[in-house]
Parts: sequence; structure tokens; C-alpha cells
Amino acid sequence: MSSSRRRYARYSFVPTFFFFLLPIDPLAASLRIMQKTVASPGRGILAMDESNATCGKRLASIGLENTEANRQAYRTLLVTAPGLGQYISGAILFEETLYQSAVDGRKIVDILAEQGIVPGIKVDKGLVPLAGSNNESWCQGLDGLAAREAAYYQAGARFAKWRTVVSIPNGPSELAVKEAAWGLARYAAISQDNGLVPIVEPEILLDGEHGIERTFEVAQKVWAETFYAMAENNVMFEGILLKPSMVTPGAESKDKATPEQVAEYTLKLLHRRIPPSVPGIMFLSGGQSEVEATQNLNAMNQGANPWHVSFSYARALQNTCLKTWGGAPENVKAAQDALLLRAKANSLAQLGKYTSDGETAEAKEGMFVKNYSY
Ligand SMILES: *[C@@H]1O[C@H](CO)[C@@H](O)[C@H](O)[C@H]1NC(C)=O
Ligand SMILES: *[C@@H]1O[C@H](CO)[C@@H](O)[C@H](O)[C@H]1NC(C)=O
Repeated sequence: MSSSRRRYARYSFVPTFFFFLLPIDPLAASLRIMQKTVASPGRGILAMDESNATCGKRLASIGLENTEANRQAYRTLLVTAPGLGQYISGAILFEETLYQSAVDGRKIVDILAEQGIVPGIKVDKGLVPLAGSNNESWCQGLDGLAAREAAYYQAGARFAKWRTVVSIPNGPSELAVKEAAWGLARYAAISQDNGLVPIVEPEILLDGEHGIERTFEVAQKVWAETFYAMAENNVMFEGILLKPSMVTPGAESKDKATPEQVAEYTLKLLHRRIPPSVPGIMFLSGGQSEVEATQNLNAMNQGANPWHVSFSYARALQNTCLKTWGGAPENVKAAQDALLLRAKANSLAQLGKYTSDGETAEAKEGMFVKNYSY
């Protein structure tokens, strides 16, 4: 066990008022911040950590060039949406944004702090082909991770994200699942050592013609391996967040699932594999339409859950917002309103109180992209 985690273990039984007398422990401090944040009802995470290249694809879709200034203008629009913090508790940033200023010169992390939004940071270095597998991939980024995370903490980040993927049509092979789990576990341990709460994200890609049962089977396997590897690496389960895929049929399956079916399978998966000490389950949207992602989350919050069941959406929060903006300064307010509309809808879904009355046809359009990469 590392020294910081030993310190945390020693203090975990101390009544709260004695914390003032103790030396500051970055890990214990960030766990307290995150647990308060993630446990706050009606809030979830805005994933805005597209890499330079992926942000470039988004900008290209509205006819803008992929320049630092355009990325800055877009991210400024997102973080300055008035009252965003009412619905959003954390924002995952790409490294560029963590150190970036908004258009008006204020640091983006300071604007987030004013909104009551905790900054997080994507720390993985992306997917590359996994030699010896069935055309599958693995996620890079462990080399030098501790040093990078120490610097991110100094810059204001309090949680981290590592996304790896598992493909059902390609197997998944035993090797790919083990590699995904081990990488996530090493990353989670290193993050906790550096005071960052790790978001653990083994995305099970939507690609494929399989039915929901097959996704359920693969998801059980992936989460079993991931928790086994995390236990072997002495990761504290009460100090992580999960970013799972919902259990759905493959995108090219002839079967479609209702929000109630998605909720039934997904909650069954969580109950079978996820300890109740894990504070937050922040789902990814992974190509679902904006409305689908909201309806599915709402269906999962119709009863009491042992974890905070919420969202960590990128496209499902940003899609209409980006299109509405179109790069025109005069559209900034309308684009911010579009973001706030989605954020509020998902906030209601976190509380189990969402209704889809008045949603536009655009928001109902699917966003699945075959072989999607960030
Ligand atoms: C992203 O763009 C910024 C500014 O152009 C550059 O400094 C940074 O190295 C880029 N990051 C990556 C990972 O490409
Ligand atoms: C491997 O995957 C890539 C991209 O997902 C695909 O274009 C290629 O055809 C695949 N190759 C084989 C041998 O399946």
C-alpha cells in the first residue's frame, strides 16, 4: 500500500470534526470533495475531453477549422453557460483545456470553480492495436502517468478518466478483456496515489448485430475482471467512479430495447458486479441519441439504488448545442440554452422525474458511428 493510502486508511475512522487537526491529505481531501459532489442529487458529469483530433472532427461538422482558438471559443461557450453547475457536478477536460483560458482571459478551471463544477482530466493516451489479439485494441498511457497526474493535481484537477474499449463482434478475446482490466486497475491505483479520483471506463462498444443477452454476458465478464484486477492493485472501491456502457442490443441488431428493458438489464448487471461502496455510476452515452440517453437514465432511477446513478455524457449533452452554435458569435446564447436544456433533462432523469414531452426530432436522432474512435 502506498503511503498516502495508508494515511487515508488510518484516518478513515476519525470523526469529521477532528479532520481540522490533521495534516492535509490530498487523497482524503479529494475523496471528500468527490463524494459530496457525486452524491449531490440531480447532477452528473459533462464529458468535454475530446482530444485535439476529435474536437477537430466536431468542429469540421459545423464547417470550422481545427485551431486552438476555435477549440477555446467552443469550450468557453460550454463552461460559461449560466447556471450550468445546477445540473453538472464535474467536467472532464482534455489537457489543453485544463491549462487554457477562456476567451475573456479567465482560466477555464476558475470558471468551473465559480459554477461549482469540479474539473477532471482525461489521462489515457488513446487506443492502439493489441498485438496477438483478434484485431482488438488496448489503451496506452501508464508510462509517466504518476508525474503527469501530480502536475494535473497542481493545475486544479481532482478526478481523472481512462477509457478503454472492448469489442463484442471481435470476440472479445480473453487477452483483450484482461489487458483492459489490468490497465484500468494500474491507472486507478496510480490516480488514487496522486490524489485524483479515477473514473474507470471499460466501454463495451455498441458495434455488432448481437442481442441484449450477449451484451449482458460480456459486461459481466468485463466487470468481474476489472474489479478483480482493481482488488489485486489495492484500489479503494469507495474512492472510484465508474463510467459503464448501458446494457443494450448491438447497434446493428434487429432487436430494439425499450428504456425499461435497458434499465432492467443494466441494473441487474450493476447488482451482480458492482459493490455498493462505489459512490457513483456515471453512464456513458456512446452513440445513443440525446433523448435515448436521457430516457434510459430516467428508467434506471425509478427505484432506490445503492449508488448514485447518473450521467457522464459528451455527445448526448453537446450535439444540439454544437449544431446550434455553428461557430457564430450571435448563436452563443441559443447554443448555451440547448446545452442547459439537455443538462436539465438529464438532471431530472437522475432524479427519475424526466418526461420526454416537447423534445425535438433532432434530439431523438441516433449518433451511432461505426468503429467510433475518440
Ligand atoms: C493540442 O493542441 C495544443 C495547442 O495547439 C498543443 O499544444 C498540444 O500539444 C496538442 N495536444 C495533443 C495531444 O495533440
Ligand atoms: C480490423 O479493424 C479495422 C478497423 O476496425 C478494420 O478496418 C479491418 O478490416 C479489420 N481487419 C480484420 C482482419 O478484421
